[in-house]
Amino acid sequence: MIKELFDLTGKVAIITGASKGIGKAMARGLAEFGATVVVSSRKQDAVDAVAAEFEKEGLKAIGVECHVGKEEYLKSLVEKVMEKYGRIDVLINNAGTNPFYGPIHKMTPLLYQKTLDINTNAALHLSNLVYPIMKGQKSGSVIHISSIEGIHPSALMSAYNISKAALIMLGKNQAIEWGRHNIRVNVICPGYVKTKLSAALLENEEANAGLIKGAALSRAAEPSEMAGLAVFLASEASSYMTGSTIVNDGGLLHAPLF
Ligand SMILES: NC(=O)c1ccc[n+]([C@@H]2O[C@H](COP(=O)([O-])OP(=O)(O)OC[C@H]3O[C@@H](n4cnc5c(N)ncnc54)[C@H](OP(=O)(O)O)[C@@H]3O)[C@@H](O)[C@H]2O)c1
Repeated sequence: MIKELFDLTGKVAIITGASKGIGKAMARGLAEFGATVVVSSRKQDAVDAVAAEFEKEGLKAIGVECHVGKEEYLKSLVEKVMEKYGRIDVLINNAGTNPFYGPIHKMTPLLYQKTLDINTNAALHLSNLVYPIMKGQKSGSVIHISSIEGIHPSALMSAYNISKAALIMLGKNQAIEWGRHNIRVNVICPGYVKTKLSAALLENEEANAGLIKGAALSRAAEPSEMAGLAVFLASEASSYMTGSTIVNDGGLLHAPLF
């Protein structure tokens, strides 16, 4: 049955940046389809709270602290999950940041590096730690959370745009190198989603109105509207899909030019 292809029972999924926002919504989605989810972010108390909330609802979850910009945390995240469950079927590289807002010529090397470290390099390093495990299992699904900002430039967001564009290409390269081991790698590009990260835009009347006007659906997304795609890409329902970049933006990329 096609319906059974979406079943994630027995699968173990790591989701970074899952204490809130899109990551939490995706973790919930995977857990509702049967996966054991490893909810991860920089704060142990925050991920413990999410795991406890999920467990209370009968879902399977644990919280593991991991600052994705720190190699030792990435290693210990993978080690802890392997010790407890002995497998990793799904990795969602979702943690993201945007510490620099301003013109390119005023961007400091430090903020540029920080943006790349969290948004791009962490996804590469964590994927590389998970790769031998998925290779051994002869299956795995890696999902990177990029952005429409990785496809389309926007003023004053250069570091973020560059980091998200690189993440898209990382996914494509991993897909062509890892496909022979049945490891699929796909990239999701959300548009304008109501989270803490987008709070500055949501609270800016002019910017918010412009974005909403640009989207064909005339609204921002709820984080939960990103979850179905994550479930699909994590599951066997997408078994022939790799190297894809999927936009989920309410039509914002097609904002009319005039
Ligand atoms: N919101 C949007 O409109 C939008 C649009 C396109 C793409 N995205 C992308 O979607 C992803 C999720 O964003 P969001 O909007 O859901 O943001 P959010 O609500 O601000 O959540 C960000 C999550 O990442 C965690 N985090 C931040 N820095 C981290 C680090 N260094 N290591 C580990 N975890 C870290 C945060 O938890 P702690 O504070 O507990 O660490 C939190 O769980 C990001 O990659 C973002 O670029 C968002």
